[in-house]
Amino acid sequence: MKGIVLAGGNGTRLAPSTNGVNKHLLNVYDKPMIYYPLSVLMLGGIKDILIISTPDDMPRFKEMLGDGSAFGIRLQYMEQVNPDGIPEAFILAEDFIGYDDVTLILGDNIFYGQGFTTLFRNALKNHRNATIFGSRVKDPERFGVVEFDENQKVLSLEEKPEDPKSDFAAAGLYIYDNRATRIAKQLPYSERGETEITDLNKEYLKGNQLEVQLLGRGFAWMDAGTHESLFEASEFVKITQQRQGFKIACLEEIAYYMGYISKQELYKKGERMKKTDYGQYLMEIANRKHSEQYWEMIDKNPILELVQNE
Ligand code: G1P
Repeated sequence: MKGIVLAGGNGTRLAPSTNGVNKHLLNVYDKPMIYYPLSVLMLGGIKDILIISTPDDMPRFKEMLGDGSAFGIRLQYMEQVNPDGIPEAFILAEDFIGYDDVTLILGDNIFYGQGFTTLFRNALKNHRNATIFGSRVKDPERFGVVEFDENQKVLSLEEKPEDPKSDFAAAGLYIYDNRATRIAKQLPYSERGETEITDLNKEYLKGNQLEVQLLGRGFAWMDAGTHESLFEASEFVKITQQRQGFKIACLEEIAYYMGYISKQELYKKGERMKKTDYGQYLMEIANRKHSEQYWEMIDKNPILELVQNE
């Protein structure tokens, strides 16, 4: 399974903050936005990841994340010159995907909730053709909307409908088989002058090959693409982290619990950032005694849970 983070676009809905910087490099509380989608792919066990962004912003992503070895993953980069819609990611990534299946996550999407890792891992393991994730929202007309019956069979999909048929948005996380690139090449342009991920999903739906996984009420799914939603996401991360003492989307922590980096490496990374709470957190995890028993006791660490299951 290959992974793609789509982190392109002009971020026009976040101007003036995005006049000189890509939105995915902006902070969501205490770490860059792109850490959040990357953490999702890492938790899914996906190690080969392509980051797609604009030619202007690419050097900054490379500087920040390098070849991924700091997090025990393999990162590659691909430029998207003229943002042409989400499905273009599969065309740009054709060689990278090769003969594999592919998971795409949008760079401004944040997923958080107990059991998410297990749900995502199971979706990756069991998926056949295409799988999308549905999350209940108050404003479905802002998103792709998925309608389904009582057996969770998908009935329809619509992109930003005026009159939504359900309250469930299709979140920006998609799992596809190897046909995604071929289908993406044949999609028409929508009224907003782009190809639409909803149209790609509809192609799978036509063949009864689209499944939806629902994120229950205990999940938080957010996109951070506007000032309001970015601020809300930062608030959510701050409050949750402060209350629980766990960090959300801490890539080094995930790499450590996945067994990609050693305790010593984790400590060193923390030491380099020790003036921040983030750095101190890494040092604290590396120093933690009896951590395994502790995690087991409270059964709250999905990372450890899945490592033990493997
Ligand atoms: C895109 C998709 C939409 C999806 C949303 C999730 O919307 O087109 O189907 O629900 O991402 O964040 P956009 O952000 O391009 O408006």
